[in-house]
Amino acid sequence: MITLEVGLGDRSYPIFIDDGHLKKIGADLSERRVGDTYCIIADDRVAELYGDKLLDSLADAGIKSELLQFPRGEASKTLQTISELASRLAGKGLGRKDGLIALGGGVTGDITGFLAAIYMRGIPFVQVPTSLLAQVDSSVGGKTGVDIPEGKNLVGAFYQPKAVYIDSGVLTTLPHEEMLSGMAEVIKYGIIRDHQFLCFLEDNKQKILDHHPEILGKMIHTCCRIKAEVVEADERESDLRRILNFGHTIGHAVEAASNFAILHGNAVAIGMVAAARISVAKGVLTDSEADWICSIIRKFGLPTEVPKELDRKAIKKYLSTDKKSVGGRIFYVLPTSIDRIIITDEISEQQVDNVLG
Ligand SMILES: NC(=O)c1ccc[n+]([C@@H]2O[C@H](COP(=O)([O-])OP(=O)(O)OC[C@H]3O[C@@H](n4cnc5c(N)ncnc54)[C@H](O)[C@@H]3O)[C@@H](O)[C@H]2O)c1
Ligand SMILES: [Zn+2]
Repeated sequence: MITLEVGLGDRSYPIFIDDGHLKKIGADLSERRVGDTYCIIADDRVAELYGDKLLDSLADAGIKSELLQFPRGEASKTLQTISELASRLAGKGLGRKDGLIALGGGVTGDITGFLAAIYMRGIPFVQVPTSLLAQVDSSVGGKTGVDIPEGKNLVGAFYQPKAVYIDSGVLTTLPHEEMLSGMAEVIKYGIIRDHQFLCFLEDNKQKILDHHPEILGKMIHTCCRIKAEVVEADERESDLRRILNFGHTIGHAVEAASNFAILHGNAVAIGMVAAARISVAKGVLTDSEADWICSIIRKFGLPTEVPKELDRKAIKKYLSTDKKSVGGRIFYVLPTSIDRIIITDEISEQQVDNVLG
């Protein structure tokens, strides 16, 4: 088992990574005493696949728990779901000394974390991420929240979990396209922080896609270590944490312009290549470095270009309304050599037009 710590003073917490870890969570929680009893929150698909396993693990450790389900998908990430789940928690008599367990992907983690932050003015929770995206990104860092009609993630809170339990074994049931989409975030860490890691990904592509436990553990560990380092240095996203938005400025616009038909990671992959091409145009990255970034992304079956049929005007409209465009300025996170980045708003419209193609 791999253990690492997110160091945030009295809000510090451990991350455990292991193949088959799900069945050990009860034993760890009985020592850690996060709550007296627990409500496990999961979407319908993950509840069916792993709900009983986690319930059994807690029961074996003598801990009382119940499972609450909601329908899978981003459409559930609403205040309505929060309100319904809060009523169900209250109906079950869940109190201040009890805890929540987020069992699922990023949607479940964001919903459960936000619910934990506001139910009875805050109760403890732990993350049990089951999608690759959640294991390498959303379960660490304490960003929680829901969508409103005006935009994604517009209502939420910074609220850290008490522990993150990552079972790499559950990725075997994750749909292949969700696995690839998560790989875009994995590649992102390599580009922004760790050149060696990119080489590791390139060398181990097949083992990763074949769910080789040791390789997956190592990969998830590196991502969590980088995310933890960034979060420790900048918990509330004032500066450094923005490097995690690499590929996301154009990525978000592409995702939104496709009406979310393009998966998040695929859009981020397109956004990372676009950012690299802008870097080349600005003279801060060589052509061959940009080509290398592009080839790794392509190797994992991810797209590297904005689809022909996507309306460029719509992408540009979303770019200018992106919440990161503060005071009308759009900030781009650009690679300057393979493992360094700059954040700048000095990008001409022409440069953006050129990369959108
Ligand atoms: N809080 C953060 O820092 C942060 C960071 C990035 C993304 N997010 C959020 O995360 C969400 C996306 O997360 P996601 O991609 O995990 O989506 P998701 O939670 O909807 O999961 C994707 C799909 O995979 C299924 N699934 C999950 N684990 C599975 C498994 N082991 N086996 C089979 N199926 C499984 C789910 O049922 C779902 O249908 C977005 O709402 C995004 O805003 C949050
Ligand atoms: Zn992302």
